Amino acid sequence: MTEVVRLDDPLVVGAGVAGLTVALALPRATVLVPDERGSTWWAQGGIAVAMAEGDDPGLHAADTLEVAGGLAAEEAVGILTEGGPEAVERLMALGAAFDTDEDGVLLWGQEAGHSRRRILHADGDATGAEVMRTLTAAVGSSETVTQMLGWKAIDLVQEGSRVVGAVISDSRGRRQVVLAPGVVLATGGIGRLYSRTTNPEGVTGDGIAMAARLGARLADMEFVQFHPTALAGGKDPLPLLTEALRGEGAILVDAHGRRFMVSQHRDAELAPRDVVARAIWWQLDKGAGAYLDATSIGNFPERFPTVFAHSLSMGLDPRAGPLPVSPAAHYFMGGIDTGPEGRSSIDGLWAVGECASNGVHGANRLASNSLLEGLVFGARTALDVSQSGPVPGSGPYRVPIDALDLPLRPGPALEELRQLMWERVGLVRIGNGLWDARNQLLELDSVLRRSVAGRVAADVARFIIPAALRRSESRGGHYRADYPDPDPLQAERMMVEPAVAEMVSL
Ligand code: SIN
Repeated sequence: MTEVVRLDDPLVVGAGVAGLTVALALPRATVLVPDERGSTWWAQGGIAVAMAEGDDPGLHAADTLEVAGGLAAEEAVGILTEGGPEAVERLMALGAAFDTDEDGVLLWGQEAGHSRRRILHADGDATGAEVMRTLTAAVGSSETVTQMLGWKAIDLVQEGSRVVGAVISDSRGRRQVVLAPGVVLATGGIGRLYSRTTNPEGVTGDGIAMAARLGARLADMEFVQFHPTALAGGKDPLPLLTEALRGEGAILVDAHGRRFMVSQHRDAELAPRDVVARAIWWQLDKGAGAYLDATSIGNFPERFPTVFAHSLSMGLDPRAGPLPVSPAAHYFMGGIDTGPEGRSSIDGLWAVGECASNGVHGANRLASNSLLEGLVFGARTALDVSQSGPVPGSGPYRVPIDALDLPLRPGPALEELRQLMWERVGLVRIGNGLWDARNQLLELDSVLRRSVAGRVAADVARFIIPAALRRSESRGGHYRADYPDPDPLQAERMMVEPAVAEMVSL
């Protein structure tokens, strides 16, 4: 018999920057903290925020819109950039320490797509770890947040049409049902669906899959962002070579040491992320090689300690010569469709951070806007949740079939899917390849559905592939070699209304 726990406060699923911000901003909350550390911990590049002298939120908004391929929701962009300074000050008041000069004045970094220096970093390239250290400590000492350590959600629980809780699992597969007046998904992105990714274990789109099984509307599922420069060499995940390296003068060269971005874009290495990623893809595809030459950067170990350590662990020294690079799946612009308050299309369910798609990034996210997104929209979502949410009644409760007994660990089919996604649904897509991916996914489907992780992957891939097929143009992170230009008639966001999965009563 599965244990049922009844909470008086909302349940927050996920403990990255968005989840912990929601939990801290709610009057009371319970947060599920899984064993694996999510993407925020790994973020190197920092927090983009218009606080430097001469900068203002309007300029930050203009840069965000400029790279977004015409699809960003202007209201959400305004909320992000206007709300940025206050959100960062709140984080600093909790103890976050960002890099300063000897006089204690904040240092502002440069990254691609930003018209000025506006990126805060901590310990050079360990910004995410500092954000998480700060938020984890705040949650740890909070009297209003209860943490359930080592638990993650598998599925959502409904009473009538309203979400009233989740089925949760620990790492051994032990299940519980948690009933709560409102559930906030902050489960992160989908990078692990790809064989080349910068995202850590566990970032497989759980929240998106859970919401889709209940029929929650999804948005922008074709828009995956590939980071141009991961350190090639077979690690999984591939270590990130932060964009800040290029901001500080690193250049991209071919196997003969020749720069190749200068002829591709007026901003060369600091062109928008999708442009640089595709240029590297073509270089690799034609066998010309792609390397990041960061030898001009002084004090490398002090300024980029994370990159330095990763490089040394692979027998490479960034001070001595160029590093081999590959693009890698990095961030998902799509996800659960929400407004700026995080409300999904289903009562009782909110989503925030990378698993949500509120339109703030459009078709392509501006570098270092995602930590800010978690801080700003996390606080807004908490406000909305705290203003609603009747407690669950006495049932009957329904969950998707398999929620209570499916094994956690995936078999080899998941690796097959990851390779397929990279090859056919990666950063250069073509109609035939996408059809092929669709057919191969159908063949893998029943095997994938024998585990929780495989079922999540199948449930997310089955929306990404048709969305990529349907958008017969190139825009932002979505590039179709058979339709290489943007089509003004397709300049709008695409929504998907998933069919509801088969449900069982508890
Ligand atoms: C980076 O450090 O290049 C990543 C920053 C980001 O993805 O926003």
